[in-house]
Amino acid sequence: MRVISGMRPTGRLHLGHYLGVLKNWQKLQNDYESLFFVADWHALSTGYQDGLDIKKLTIDLIREWISAGIDPQKSILFVQSAVKEHAELYLILNMITPLGWLERNPTYKEQLQQLQEKGGKDIRTAGFFTYPVLQTADIILYDAERVPIGEDQRPHLEIAREIVRRFHHLFKCEIFTEPQEILSETPRLPGLDGRKMSKSYNNAIYLDDTPQDVAQKLRSAKTDPNRIRRHDPGNPEVCLVYDYHKAFSDPKTVKEIEEGCKSAAIGCVECKRICASSIERILEPIRAKREKITKEYVLEVIRSGNEKAKEMARKKMESVNRAVFEIQEHSRSDR
Ligand code: TRP
Ligand code: SF4
Repeated sequence: MRVISGMRPTGRLHLGHYLGVLKNWQKLQNDYESLFFVADWHALSTGYQDGLDIKKLTIDLIREWISAGIDPQKSILFVQSAVKEHAELYLILNMITPLGWLERNPTYKEQLQQLQEKGGKDIRTAGFFTYPVLQTADIILYDAERVPIGEDQRPHLEIAREIVRRFHHLFKCEIFTEPQEILSETPRLPGLDGRKMSKSYNNAIYLDDTPQDVAQKLRSAKTDPNRIRRHDPGNPEVCLVYDYHKAFSDPKTVKEIEEGCKSAAIGCVECKRICASSIERILEPIRAKREKITKEYVLEVIRSGNEKAKEMARKKMESVNRAVFEIQEHSRSDR
């Protein structure tokens, strides 16, 4: 079975990406034929005004993936814009996708609202509107059966399946696979202020933060607001430091923190120090790996991944173009 997933190159990766995405990819690559790509065309749809250095962001992103355990020997890592077939299929799919499907897309409506509130960004573009169509092309070009995604991407997978069915119906063929999602089971890790972890809120711990950064960020993290003095008992359930413990500390430590907090046996300063060291156990190996990865190596990984992806995509587009542009023997009239 084959899986595919993509990530937009918009900046540094944080612990939320690690838990929600990279850990899953790392596991999946052992059990599936895996393709992971940098969705640089998609990055333009939301960031066309942002002056993104997409080439640098792409190299940095793939370096982060490899540092975090995505293995180029097991997975095909490639760049969307290097495989022009994504654009070609996107164009054809745009011809058959009803506007209503895109207008109804809840993720579209939400993002439009959010981005407009946040940055006054104008993303009312054709490209952003048809984002799920490009995403559909990304997936069905490779006959991927499974797509690891977050909850917010579910409507896009639904649109992808609808487009596949419509294509088959219109062009009287069965050339694509209807993709199913693999939902990430990990609950979302909140940012250090309790809101969603995000670059724009400045509340994230990044995979390339130094140990000092991590310690400093945790020191300023919000805790149980009712725990004012050291001997006040706390409630870990309302403290986001405890969320971090649950995500990164071993079960025994989590238990000790829970009890220590409730009985005031442990102070927040100490609790946060332990939390920082649990996070360091994740970040330290990533840091060590990153240091050894040269730009030349990353470029070589991309070159070889692009080549494999192109070969698969080229073959698929042959069947697509045959289905769309050549009158099939069986449907031609007999006169
Ligand atoms: N839309 C995805 C996101 O923002 C990124 C993406 C683009 C993707 N193409 C894809 C994910 C294809 C899975 C499959 O997270
Ligand atoms: Fe939060 Fe830990 Fe303080 Fe409890 S002891 S309130 S879990 S930081």
